[in-house]
Formats: sequence, C-alpha cells, structure tokens
Amino acid sequence: MEQTEVVKPETLDDLIKTLHKIFESDTINVEEVQSIMEAYESNPQEWMKFAKFDQYRYTRNLVDEGNGKFNLMILCWGEGHGSSIHDHTDSHCFLKLLQGQLKETLFDWPDRRLQGGMVQKSQRVLLENQCAYINDSLGLHRVENVSHTESAVSLHLYSPPFQSCQTFDQRTGHRNTVKMTFWSKYGERTPYVSVHVRSKAQLELRCVLVDRITSGRC
Ligand SMILES: [Fe+2]
Repeated sequence: MEQTEVVKPETLDDLIKTLHKIFESDTINVEEVQSIMEAYESNPQEWMKFAKFDQYRYTRNLVDEGNGKFNLMILCWGEGHGSSIHDHTDSHCFLKLLQGQLKETLFDWPDRRLQGGMVQKSQRVLLENQCAYINDSLGLHRVENVSHTESAVSLHLYSPPFQSCQTFDQRTGHRNTVKMTFWSKYGERTPYVSVHVRSKAQLELRCVLVDRITSGRC
C-alpha cells in the first residue's frame, strides 16, 4: 500500500494539510492516520477558536470537511459530560485528546434477539495527545469526561463523513437513530434560522432552543 511518510505536524494547519494528502487515496492506513494525529502536539492557541462549550451537553464543532473524504471536528466536554453508547455508521473514527482526559468504554453490539443489558468489553482513560481508533467491527463505545473539575477537548476525524448514527440503551440494548448537528462550523456558532431575527440575543436564544430540540449528539 502506498504510504505517505509520517512527518510530525508542527501545527494544527499542518496536520490538516497532511490529512488532506493522506485521504486523497481511496485506501486508508489506519495506523498511519493514528500516528499522524498522535504526533501533533496539542497547542490550545491553534484550536481555541473552534472550542465552544455548552453548559449542558458536549458540543460538536466542525473544523474541516476534508474535501468530502472526512470530517474533522473538535468536541468540547464540560465537567461530567458524556455521550450515549453509539456506533459509527460504518466509518473510521479517530479520537485525539487535545486537553484533559476522557474515559472510553467499549461494548459489544447487542443481540437483537435477546433483551437485556449490554456487555461492557473494556474501559480506558485517554490522556492528552493520545489518539484512539474505533469502527463498527470493533464494537460500540461511550465517551465521558468524568472529571468534576476539568473540561476536556478532543479532535475527531470521521471518514467517510456521516450525519446520523445509532445510540443504544445500556439496560435494554434498544437502539435509536439520531441525526447529529454542529454547534459551530469553522469557529462560528451555527445559526439555524428560518425567520429573520431582530437581535443578536434573539439569535443566540434561537440557536440554543433549536439545538436542544434537534441535537442527537452522540
Ligand atoms: Fe464515537
């Protein structure tokens, strides 16, 4: 397989350029992408503009659309914020810690014929600059910032990009399809506005309300 030489990206922009190059190819070397993402040393000054937090839930903030080959986004986790158990819609998922720590819990896919709790396979804590990888053949996961004092920020690459996934009830294994939305894109809060708004305050309120209703963040 043709492989781009692994050179440490000096900046986030550098990392994005390298990822564009890697994803020009139709075949992806998972270890290569993981190494490149891990090699980037998190510098908050470079990603701060994308890191927009919400008081209530973690946020998804689009950084780059990867020429349609991948979505690169920054997720911001307030204290105690966590995802549901979810799949990755047959895509590759890379998750790199930019700040703080996240707990990742892996689960087996639930047996559709059986009722009952989901089986936990493993658990680990991801540290700053580490890059984890998952796809549907490896199982499902839940990601949580279990800290009550520190927020966490993570950089995610999904390829191919997807807009919905399935979430699972840990106690029953029942699943739901949820549509995912972005809290911000390219550093700008995502407006979801179908009518004219008269003030910035009104726009902010509308964004918050629409997000509460439509966001199946997983
Ligand atoms: Fe995930």
